[in-house]
Formats: sequence, C-alpha cells, structure tokens
Amino acid sequence: MNALLPTTQLAVLRRQTDPRLEWLCAQIARNRFLPVPPPELHFIGDGDFRAIGAEFLRHFVRLGGLRPDHKVLEIGCGVGRMALPLTQYLDSSYDGIDIVLDGIRWCASTITPAYPEFRFHHLDVDNGLYNPDGRIEGETATLPFKAGAYDFVILTSVITHLRTADAERYAAEIARMLKPGGRCFLSLFLADATARAGIAKGTARPPFRDTPGVELLADPEHPNAAVAYDEEFLLGRFAAHGLRPARAVMRGHWSGQREAENFQDLLVLEKGTAP
Ligand SMILES: C[S@@+](CC[C@H](N)C(=O)[O-])C[C@H]1O[C@@H](n2cnc3c(N)ncnc32)[C@H](O)[C@@H]1O
Repeated sequence: MNALLPTTQLAVLRRQTDPRLEWLCAQIARNRFLPVPPPELHFIGDGDFRAIGAEFLRHFVRLGGLRPDHKVLEIGCGVGRMALPLTQYLDSSYDGIDIVLDGIRWCASTITPAYPEFRFHHLDVDNGLYNPDGRIEGETATLPFKAGAYDFVILTSVITHLRTADAERYAAEIARMLKPGGRCFLSLFLADATARAGIAKGTARPPFRDTPGVELLADPEHPNAAVAYDEEFLLGRFAAHGLRPARAVMRGHWSGQREAENFQDLLVLEKGTAP
C-alpha cells in the first residue's frame, strides 16, 4: 500500500510512527516506578496519570516537534503529569511553574532530587478555581524567567481556566520567553463554527453557554471552571505577539461534533524569527 502514497506523505507517516518514541511512551504508561501524586493532590482532573502524560509526550514530539535538546518551560505544570514523562525524554532542562503551592512542593520534593535539571516554581497568581487568594493579578503577572530562554513552552489545559485578560497577558509572556523559532504547545477549547454549533445544540462537554462573545463560559458563577475562546479572537491575540500556528489545529471531540482521539483541541504556535 505504501507504494501508492506520494513520497511527501510517506515521509510524514515515517515521522509519525517513530518506533523508539512509541516504545518510550508505552514504557512510561506502564512504568509503576514512576511516581504518582497522592489522591489529595489530584486537582488536575481525572484519568490515568501516567497514560495521559505518555500520550502528551507523544503529542509534544510528533505534533509539536519537541527534541531532547530543547529547553522546556511548562506553565501550569500542576503535579508533574507532563514533567514526569519528560524526565525520560529530555537531555536538556525543564522549568515548571504553577499557582498551587502544594503541587509545586510535591514536584520539587519528588522529581528534582532525582532530576536536578527539572526545577519547579510557585507564582502566587489569583485564579478563582485554583488559587482564589492569590496576591498577583494574572493580567499583570510577569513569569520569573529570562527573555528568549526557551525552545518549547507547554500549557496543557491551562488556558481553559484563564479569563481573557489573563490569557492575553500570558500570550505576551510566552512570546517574551520563547527563542525566535521556538514553539508553544497548548491544549484548549477553541470555538470555531463547528464547535459553536455543538455549543448551540448542547452537545459540548463542558456545557458552554451559547453566547456570542469571544470568551465562552460553562458556568458563569464559577468562570474559571472552564473557558473556551473564539478561535479567530485567540489566534489573533497570539499573532499580535508574533506567535502563529505552526500546523493545523488538531481538533478534539469536546464539542460533540467531531470524531477525534483527543478531548481538547491541540494547538502548536511558533514564534517568528524576524525581530
Ligand atoms: C487542569 S490543570 C492542568 C495541569 C497540567 N497542565 C496537566 O495537564 O497535568 C490546570 C492547571 O493550571 C494551573 N493554573 C491555573 N491558572 C494559572 C495561572 N494563572 N498561571 C499558572 N498556572 C495556572 C492550575 O493551578 C492547574 O495546575
């Protein structure tokens, strides 16, 4: 059957089925020596902790172009669900930052002693769901990292909990901290016409309200619980900081209107190389 495929498609297929990566991800998913945080720290959502981390490592590499020599920053690293698989892949360094102190403490005491190049940082930013008493407003937050320091920035299911002003601030911060040509991998809810149709029909999960604005909330009384963004609006805000899609959005099935492997949409942005 391969003989029928044009060479460009074959090259893509080969890249997508790197057997070493598949082996590594399978090992991570079943490796019971990899620590899992205690149940009281599972504030990041349900599911198999190791399997989800392994699945995203595969996405970072296959979709995002992550390489072992990349310097990685993870914003909203939670309890290390992404960091733990990355310890098995990266030769370079990793910084994780989050607003929940207990999660950062667990990561710093569990991961850093074995992998000193994996560092964890707390930033006391306010978030109605995760850190309601935070002293720093998200819309003015400056992340404690140097400009142009990272090749790869990760935000999995983080923009999904940020209101517009905070998300805009983080877009500027991501652009500042990425090297030219660096990439940002995000999982999020992007409302395009198809997703909006699902929201209107009531098939979307979370059940976002059918409102015409650029920010869609599932529960206006708890706005940080789940936030979807109008796709054109959000991509425009990233583009204003020189961050543009490096590939087509990988659609998730959250809107109830698509067959898809992943739940949230997956977006890879690249920082332009022009000054
Ligand atoms: C659904 S959890 C996802 C955690 C992690 N990214 C993962 O996929 O395992 C959302 C995370 O975003 C963090 N978060 C929320 N607002 C944030 C902010 N303004 N800055 C950094 N992290 C934030 C939360 O504390 C929480 O750890």
